[in-house]
Amino acid sequence: MTRLAPPATGDTAAPTEPRTSPPTPSTGWTSADALPLYGIPAWGAGYFGINNLGHLAVQPEKDPARRIDLFELVEGLRERDIGTPVMIRCTDVLRHRLREIREAFDAAIADHNYDNTYACVYPIKVNQQRHLCEDLRDAAAELGFGFEAGSKPELLAVMALTEGQPDMPIVCNGFKDSEFIETVILAGKLGRHVIPVVERFSDLELLVKHAEHYGVRPRIGVRTKPSAKGVGRWESSAGMRSKFGLTATELLGAVEFLKAHGMADCLNMIHFHIGSQVGDIRRIKAAVNELAHIYCELAKLGAGLDTIDVGGGLGIDYDGSLSNSPSSVNYTVDEYAADIVYRVKSACDANGIAHPRILSESGRAMVSHCSMLVFDVLGASVFPTDADAESVKALLIAEDKRPQPVLELIDAYEAIDTPRVNLVEIYHDAAQAIDEAMSLFNLGYLSLPIRSAAERLFWTIGKRVLDLARAKGELPDDLADLPRRLSDIYYANLSIFQTLPDHWAIDQLFPICPIHRLDEEPTRRGILADITCDSDGQIDKFIDRRETSKPTLELHTLNHGEPYYLGVFLLGAYQEVLGDLHNLYGDTHVVHVSFDDSEGAGDWNIDEVIEGDTVKEVLSYVQYEPENLVKAMRREVERAVKSRTLTVREAKNLLKFYSEGMEGYTYLE
Ligand SMILES: Cc1ncc(COP(=O)(O)O)c(C=O)c1O
Repeated sequence: MTRLAPPATGDTAAPTEPRTSPPTPSTGWTSADALPLYGIPAWGAGYFGINNLGHLAVQPEKDPARRIDLFELVEGLRERDIGTPVMIRCTDVLRHRLREIREAFDAAIADHNYDNTYACVYPIKVNQQRHLCEDLRDAAAELGFGFEAGSKPELLAVMALTEGQPDMPIVCNGFKDSEFIETVILAGKLGRHVIPVVERFSDLELLVKHAEHYGVRPRIGVRTKPSAKGVGRWESSAGMRSKFGLTATELLGAVEFLKAHGMADCLNMIHFHIGSQVGDIRRIKAAVNELAHIYCELAKLGAGLDTIDVGGGLGIDYDGSLSNSPSSVNYTVDEYAADIVYRVKSACDANGIAHPRILSESGRAMVSHCSMLVFDVLGASVFPTDADAESVKALLIAEDKRPQPVLELIDAYEAIDTPRVNLVEIYHDAAQAIDEAMSLFNLGYLSLPIRSAAERLFWTIGKRVLDLARAKGELPDDLADLPRRLSDIYYANLSIFQTLPDHWAIDQLFPICPIHRLDEEPTRRGILADITCDSDGQIDKFIDRRETSKPTLELHTLNHGEPYYLGVFLLGAYQEVLGDLHNLYGDTHVVHVSFDDSEGAGDWNIDEVIEGDTVKEVLSYVQYEPENLVKAMRREVERAVKSRTLTVREAKNLLKFYSEGMEGYTYLE
């Protein structure tokens, strides 16, 4: 008897395997296999591991004995009505990360007998969210760190954030108007350690004007245009034609100008920024070397320099490859610190100049690790790869017409298991045949059941070809698109535009992996489609330990009635503030947690909950007035009751859902 395989594609929000099925013992899969598969030790930098329940755990101090079970935390939040997607910020990770940067520079300073200190100033543009900045401020106060502001609103936020911390350095970069500079001068008078950075010569004129007016001797920084070009996506941040900074000629002019106003001693700092996520340490070495020489030259000309600010750029190993790939870096924080200290010291020693205080503006490096987003999977589209050629033949026999492309698909299918098979040739034949079959269908020569059979046969051939090629350990170029063509589509309850805009905009990779079931072999491969209505709202590039990226992610079969959670990691820098309101999906819930192994359930405390945007809020961002919307709906409903299209009860229910919807989360609940 011939039997047709199950229906072709479909939504499998209600999939087949029961959750209670034990982890596939036949494959011998354990959590230890999930670690390299998802690259956790590499990108996790010690902050993430898998516990004995097969759950992803956050290790805020890189100590496997002190872990927060991420799955338990998410379930605990759900019990408290904080559903997914939820952004989790782990304050202890943030603190640890800051300490690591401090310790790397302290060690480099000690190793090189460097005769001054180091401080990191957090550029708040990297993530201005108040709760994060307050946590950071508390940690920064203990470590002698400070802030960097790049605009007027940022400066006003930083001034208030650092209330009562007169020694905390505040560096002011970016475009400035007269009011901005006046505020900075007055902040100096207030006793604050503010360093305005001259980006254009006109800034200097304004600075001198206001300083003279208020009788203040400000600390002044200048941004240089290093000849060393930046690299990667932000390469235009540096180089002679960069948007910001003074040329060598302007630097000399600045010293003369200040001398003329009796303020050369106020020129305290020189600064540059060669771009964010600098992947190659050689670029940093070259640029710091150049900056250090500029420092020495200006010091010799009589500028009262005491600080060198090497800007941002300290990158993150998002893909765990410790390489010069766009989502990685080929150096560690220790190497970065050692190179900077060594270069500055060498230049100063050679010129007989005292060692300056070193500042860096390492935003990404400070905050990336502490934030992660957990989201649920809403369902999946699965392409069946189990066609039975016999059943297709039977179907054909029942048809009057025997379409040639389908016969060719059957031939290709049957040829797969023959000796000396050429996989690429088979795939070419199958790809051509399926294209022709589709053309026939479009011309009305193929029935829908035959089209369905042809599709299933094609997917099955593709899967077999791929499996055999993988077993041989090679994937010829002509088969390169197969993994993606055959992959499942998992629907993710998130907006890529809101949560990981850099993935959409600049192909930045972020580590993604399930946060539970890691002791169970993931048997599916899929891409992730978000809930926005854009076809590019999807993730089809994932970190890979062997290649620069892979087109699909290893995933588990969905279990009926059970949530399946995935996490996106290293999201703390730039993503939250660059995210947009596409389709009116708003800010997600944010929860601040810390490790706590004292009495009680769980090893975590919920320190802060910042509820995500409601529908009402996002509508008001685009100038709707929620009250008026409800009123309009009420009028419409009353008309429907009058014309007997709705009963009073139906009208009441519709209005209730409408009003409650206004108060609800913008994501699917
Ligand atoms: C002037 C300046 N400083 C610091 C940073 C922060 O860079 P990063 O996050 O790479 O450390 C930036 C960002 O591009 C910047 O423009």
